[in-house]
Amino acid sequence: MTAVTHRTAPIAGQKPGTSGLRKKTPVFMGPHYLENFVQAILDTVGAAGRTFVLGGDGRYFNDRAAQVILRMAAANGVARMIVGQGAILSTPAASHLIRLNRTDGGIILSASHNPGGPTEDFGVKFNMPNGGPAPESVTEAMFARSQVLTEYRIWEGQDIDLSGPGTARLGPMTVEIVDPVADYARLMEGLFDFDAIRAMFAGGFRMRMDSMCAVTGPYAKAILEGALGAPAGTVVNATPLPDFGGMHPDPNPVWAKALMDEMFGPDAPDFGAASDGDGDRNMVVGRGIYVSPSDSLAVLAANAHLAPGYRGGLKGVARSMPTSAAVDRVAAALGLPHYETPTGWKFFGNLLDAGKATLCGEESFGTGSDHVREKDGLWAILLWLNILAVRRQPVAGIMAEHWARFGRNYYSRHDYEALPAEGAAAMMAALRGRLADLPGRTFEGMTVSAADDFAYTDPVDGSVSKGQGVRVIFAGGSRIVLRLSGTGTEGATLRLYLERYVPGPDGLHEEVQAALGPVIRAAESIAAIRASTGRAGPDVVT
Ligand code: G1P
Ligand code: ZN
Repeated sequence: MTAVTHRTAPIAGQKPGTSGLRKKTPVFMGPHYLENFVQAILDTVGAAGRTFVLGGDGRYFNDRAAQVILRMAAANGVARMIVGQGAILSTPAASHLIRLNRTDGGIILSASHNPGGPTEDFGVKFNMPNGGPAPESVTEAMFARSQVLTEYRIWEGQDIDLSGPGTARLGPMTVEIVDPVADYARLMEGLFDFDAIRAMFAGGFRMRMDSMCAVTGPYAKAILEGALGAPAGTVVNATPLPDFGGMHPDPNPVWAKALMDEMFGPDAPDFGAASDGDGDRNMVVGRGIYVSPSDSLAVLAANAHLAPGYRGGLKGVARSMPTSAAVDRVAAALGLPHYETPTGWKFFGNLLDAGKATLCGEESFGTGSDHVREKDGLWAILLWLNILAVRRQPVAGIMAEHWARFGRNYYSRHDYEALPAEGAAAMMAALRGRLADLPGRTFEGMTVSAADDFAYTDPVDGSVSKGQGVRVIFAGGSRIVLRLSGTGTEGATLRLYLERYVPGPDGLHEEVQAALGPVIRAAESIAAIRASTGRAGPDVVT
């Protein structure tokens, strides 16, 4: 085997978005595409003598891409690669391994909740030594590098056998193949009261965990059915498949419909949960009650002290701007600092590192804490289980008490998908141009108190991120937010976030879309989405 240098030419558009570089799989499989981007990563972060973690969610091309990355790492002088067995690692488990082994970062192969397969999506992202996604300054540098590089280096030779744990060598580089689940499971055991959860399952508590044929299958089997004694069959769709069995591995009421049907059916179990392609997202459902991610974050913040890992209380909480303000109300009641960041987990990293926040969350089915630097689907599910084991109440009872105490932030997101990119950009530009005229005007009986394009100054490093989404805030706490997705691979996706606050005690148990009716109509008056896209309504409502 020898290291060889291949000539290449920059490929346009290798610009990481909200969460790494995501493209259609055939694009990634195109000549030099993966190689160029990996070389740009290694040139940007440095390779010589380094140790990195490598793994992915098992989607189509995961195995091939991992072999290419290993050979490129070796040729670029990387000293050691810690690889999940079969090149598999959930995103939170990868984040944990990066931290546990004090590595120089890691490369994660995933397009998260996007479908996988030969014609679906693939992605590559780099996480920093703190275990969290690379910040914009780093991803911008990778992009810049990708636009000028003229060569990449790779070992020519055989594939490494990743099928079992052990150590292998690739030229001068050590490849350490590790069980993807073991270290992560130990971390969870240290945070949660496994005895209490075990007792709850032993007492007949029933759960359905839908792993959506994606990466959390083996993790959920080992932890829920193994360590916690949940009955066999509690975890469904537990075998990760390259095309996720044709499922769209996004844990929301639309794509996890089978789980929703079960939880609202006649013989519903006590608790339902699902996670996404790479295991960082989660959805939580009680018997006959869906818990919105924004509410879930708020409930977890209000109850985290019931789990051993958080017994000392929280240092603070953070949410992305479009996430509902439900958690802010908990923070205010508990006297905790709370932060509002732009969309994307990478913005939580500094707050977690600096000890300013312990819990973070996004409306997009992401919740996590300072145990890793990614959102973590199974972690959220286990924290819920710990809370249920201590409180011994059904999910519906916990939600009712929560709303009675803090009020309810009715919340929904409406997505308009695959819009022509230019039209969508023009619509947002026009809206931004009208923002200054909105304050003081009344829509559906609600008066606009503020309207802006969200900008964030990181309280730790002072970096500024502008243009993070249009907010129109009404007196009384109702709000609409509009932004374009940064993770899509086809045209533009417009996300419309809708929120209405009801303090209670009346009106806490309305149907969500009905409760949001005035806000939905106000959004159309203000942004003219249907009128300017020609669409009759959103493609996905969550
Ligand atoms: C979406 C979500 C965002 C999340 C990201 C990665 O990004 O909205 O909250 O952090 O996926 O999972 P978007 O497509 O909106 O840019
Ligand atoms: Zn994900």
